Amino acid sequence: MSVRRLAEEQFQPAGFSFNAENAAWAEVTIRKYPEGRQQSAVIPLLMRAQEQDGWVTKAAIEFVAEKLDMPYIRVLEVATFYTQFQLRPIGTRAHIQVCGTTPCMLRGAEDLIKVCKSKIHHDPLELNASGTLSWEEVECQGACVNAPMIMIFKDS
Ligand code: FES
Repeated sequence: MSVRRLAEEQFQPAGFSFNAENAAWAEVTIRKYPEGRQQSAVIPLLMRAQEQDGWVTKAAIEFVAEKLDMPYIRVLEVATFYTQFQLRPIGTRAHIQVCGTTPCMLRGAEDLIKVCKSKIHHDPLELNASGTLSWEEVECQGACVNAPMIMIFKDS
C-alpha cells in the first residue's frame, strides 16, 4: 500500500474550475441533497473533477471545498482516503490497481505485480514510456471471491 499524498508542486496546475457542462452538472448534483447537507456531494464532485482532468489536483480539492463551503482539510481527507481518487497524473489509457491484501496475495497478486513492474514501470504510480499506463497496489477491493483481483480504470 502506497502512502497517499498530493503530487509534488511541479505537477500541480495553477487552478481548477469545471467546464461549462460539468459546472451545470455540479449545480444539479448539489441540489439533490437537503438544504444544509450539500457537503454530501463531495465524492461525486471530486470524481467529476478527476474525470475532467484525469486526476485530482490540489486546485480541484480547493475548488470543491469552496464550492461546498467545506474546510480544505476535510476535502483533502476524502481525496486521500479513497483509492478511486488519483492524486497524481496516471496513464492516459489505463491505470491498474492490483489488490495486495492477504486473500489476493495468497492467490497470486505478487505475480500480477511482477507483470506490472515488467510491462509498465518498475515503480508504482509511475508512467510507462509512452505515458499511457500506470499501476499501483491497493487494499482489498471487496471482491476477494475473485482473488487475485485487479481494477482497471477506464481504458479509453
Ligand atoms: S483481498 Fe483482494 S479483493 Fe479482497
